Amino acid sequence: MQLPLPRWFAHRGGGSLAPENTLAGIRLAARLGYRAVEFDVMLSAEGTPVVIHDETLERTTNGVGRVCDTPDIVLFALDAGGGERIPRFAEAAALCREYGLLANVEIKPAAGYERQTAEVVARQTSALWHGAAVMPLISSFSLEAVAIARNLAPEIPRGLLFERVPADWQQEMQRVQALTLHCNARHLEDGALAEAHAKGIPVLCYTVNTPEQAQDLFGRGVSAVFTDRLDLFAAETSAYKG
Ligand code: G3P
Ligand code: MG
Repeated sequence: MQLPLPRWFAHRGGGSLAPENTLAGIRLAARLGYRAVEFDVMLSAEGTPVVIHDETLERTTNGVGRVCDTPDIVLFALDAGGGERIPRFAEAAALCREYGLLANVEIKPAAGYERQTAEVVARQTSALWHGAAVMPLISSFSLEAVAIARNLAPEIPRGLLFERVPADWQQEMQRVQALTLHCNARHLEDGALAEAHAKGIPVLCYTVNTPEQAQDLFGRGVSAVFTDRLDLFAAETSAYKG
């Protein structure tokens, strides 16, 4: 794990300035000076890992139905916004490597596909970033998925995602040897934060779309935030050229 972590992660590819979870979004994040980008990965009907957030196609594409029921030939012909396609995981990985971006690969299994999705994504992550200077960070809300990533790609750092940090979070982190704790900024409690600080565990919060909230979280010792508002934080990213 590269420490210190970048403070800002472009959320869902390029946030809200570009179509969500697209190559155009990742390019925009890089252009605005972001050094880290988060995106979501699930499987198509053929088991191809693709970059998309929802289990269904309707919200972000002109398709219908579940991603896990849709064959590649249909999936890759869809419009994911502004003429962008749904990216293959391999394409997103290549772009992150090209730009030197730290990729936070969120394993987002459709219900019932936790094991299969984690196996494919972990194996591909290991292969796609083989020998890379900047290693990715795998995360998931699924403890099972993170455990599988630990077994199949132990060299890739892992984070555990929570909507609300549970009382036994440290045991869960230990079980999968996760290095980072990710949670919803709205539910971050000082108790969990103090425990994380005591153990030297970086805390990353989603989704932070105002400077005031970012300021508050950094003031409390949060290490990094995920934002949709790439425009708001671009000036603060280290490579920003104006
Ligand atoms: O990984 C952080 C964040 O992306 C988790 O929420 O629903 O946007 O994937 P979601
Ligand atoms: Mg996500």
